[in-house]
Parts: sequence; C-alpha cells; structure tokens
Amino acid sequence: MKSVELTAIGTAEKVIRCIDVPDPGAPGKEEILIDVVACSINPADILLIEGNYASTPQTPCSLGIEGTGIVSAVGSGVTSLKVGDKVMSLGRTNWVQRIRDKSESFIRLPAEIDLAQAAMLKVNAATAYLMLRSYVSLTTGDWVIQDAANSGVGINLIRLAQADGIRTVNVVRRAELIEPMKKLGADVVIVDGPELAQRVAKETGGARIQLGIDAVGGSTIGRLTDCIGEGGTVVNYGLLSGELCQVNAFNFVFRDIRLVGFWLAKLMREMRFDQIQGMYETLAARIIDGTIHVEIESSYPLENISDAIAHAKREARGGKILLRPN
Ligand SMILES: NC(=O)c1ccc[n+]([C@@H]2O[C@H](COP(=O)([O-])OP(=O)(O)OC[C@H]3O[C@@H](n4cnc5c(N)ncnc54)[C@H](OP(=O)(O)O)[C@@H]3O)[C@@H](O)[C@H]2O)c1
Repeated sequence: MKSVELTAIGTAEKVIRCIDVPDPGAPGKEEILIDVVACSINPADILLIEGNYASTPQTPCSLGIEGTGIVSAVGSGVTSLKVGDKVMSLGRTNWVQRIRDKSESFIRLPAEIDLAQAAMLKVNAATAYLMLRSYVSLTTGDWVIQDAANSGVGINLIRLAQADGIRTVNVVRRAELIEPMKKLGADVVIVDGPELAQRVAKETGGARIQLGIDAVGGSTIGRLTDCIGEGGTVVNYGLLSGELCQVNAFNFVFRDIRLVGFWLAKLMREMRFDQIQGMYETLAARIIDGTIHVEIESSYPLENISDAIAHAKREARGGKILLRPN
C-alpha cells in the first residue's frame, strides 16, 4: 500500500515522498483495520516536517495528524465498532491507505457524516470549540474577537459561536473576505491595521470584549489585545506571522489582561476518552446539521504529496487541502 514518508527535517515539499509499504495485515483481538478516505493537511503537519513544532521527529517516519476512514475488519475482542462504520483516527500517522490500530485509537462517526468534512474535525473544530469554552464564561450576546479569522479554525469558531448566540469580531488581512465571511455568519469583519481598537469599538458600539483569540503573533496580537476589555483574556494558539508576540505591557499591568497559550494536544492529554468522544460526538452533529462546514480548495492522491504540501503552503487559499489516499 501507499504511505507518505518524511525522509528528513527540511522544506516540506522536498523532504516527503510517497512510498510502498507492506499492508498492515489482519487486526489483532482488540484492533481494527480501516481504509483511509480523507486526510487534511494542517499547518501543524508542515511545522512538524520543517522542525518548527513542539518536538522534532526521528526520521524516516510516517505523518499525518488527521484522517478519517471506513472500518474494513475488526478483531474478535472489539465490540464498539463493526465493519462499515465511519471513524476518525486519533493517531498521528494518517497519510496512508490503511491503518491497523487498537479500537480506542478511533472515534466512531455517524453514518450520514461527510468524511471529507470529518477529516477537519479532530484539530481545527476541536480547537475552536475548546478555546470558546476553556477560558472565559461567555453567554448569549457576548463578543469574541479573533484574527486569521478566515482560517479553518476561524471559520469553525464563527459558526460554533453563532450557534451559541455569541457574536464575533473577525480580523483578516484581505478586504475581499469581508462580504463572504459575513455571509458565513461573522458579525463584524475588519481588516488588520492601525487603530484596530478604535475601529472595532465603532463596529461593536463600544462592546466590552472579554475573549481574544490569536493565531498570528507579531504586532497583530498587540493590536488584538488593545481591543480587549479590562480583566479579559487573550489566547494565543499559533504564530502565523513567524514573529514573537508583541503586546504592550500596559495591558497586563494596568488593565489586568491575561495572555495564555492553547495547545490542543496538551488539553486532550488531560481529557478522559469519554470526554474526548463526547466532544467529537457534539462536533460531528454540528457537521451533519451544517453548523460546521469548511471549504476544500483541492484534493490530491498520496502519490502527489509534494504538490499537495506546496499547495497547502500557499497564501490566500479558498479552503483546505485534503489527501484522498484511496
Ligand atoms: N495550538 C493548537 O493546538 C492549534 C490547533 C489547530 C491550529 N493551530 C494553528 O492555527 C493556525 C490556523 O490553522 P488552520 O489550519 O485553521 O489554517 P488554514 O485553514 O490553513 O488557514 C491559514 C490562515 O492563516 C492566515 N495567515 C497565514 N499567514 C499569515 C500571516 N502572516 N498573518 C496573518 N494571517 C496569516 C491565512 O490568511 P490568508 O487567507 O489571508 O492567506 C489563513 O487565514 C495555524 O497557525 C495552526 O498552526 C493551532
């Protein structure tokens, strides 16, 4: 079968290749075998490949943080899953045609779910869901502000917030996103730049915003923090600018603003399996009812992994890049 291999740490499109590996074989007693249907390419995959993630893998190794598929065989001791079930993998080596692993490494998905949308559930949907819930207690009518608002995480956050009656201020870097994002349910969409706090106050009628969500770092998080009301929280979960977070200390000292970091992998390590399963059941239902939907710009077979990665690294994309291993 085909599998993606990381040969060395380096420029992503140059150090990965598609190789033939032995089929995984029949599942053991507590294992299942799945045919992989869809995998997303996330910024975290690229950061890992290029040596910019939390840890650096030993090469050669397999890759792929997200993947969904269909169960093709189950071990004699498995009762929670059956052949034909749709599943999402919790493992981190999903860019492959078939996966054999213990049954607790998979979350069962509803039969009616679109596996391409579900291939973007594990990381970005969960990130948006948990960031909205873990730091500030929000109620109907409250505001949240986020940057990189047209990203996969950002779109999920807009839709999940809207479903809970929470209003969003969405900071982007391209004016052409304003109208399409409003159609998606964004309350305010604003282009990053000077006097962001004044412009946001004008758009929201001076609302007190208690939660800011930042994936950019650099000077953008500084402007975002200036928009937060006294005693509020800014959550950083990415560094898309590649620059250190530049926040005026005035915000910490005189306005009691808290800056925290979010890392999904760490939060999930602290969750029990039933909590993880419950979260993904909620989010899967949100895909099925149409609350969560992320555009897909293009899909590639594993053989074209370098082209797929190069595409995923492009700016101003219209959606995510997926792999379709089978
Ligand atoms: N901490 C965690 O646990 C966690 C979990 C999930 C995701 N993340 C992080 O979340 C971020 C978004 O991930 P995603 O999968 O949602 O992204 P994505 O769908 O691939 O979209 C990328 C986004 O980044 C924006 N962008 C790229 N470079 C930028 C820059 N220099 N300044 C401002 N915006 C920039 C793009 O804007 P344009 O469309 O204008 O190019 C686009 O909105 C990434 O940094 C990822 O690593 C972190």
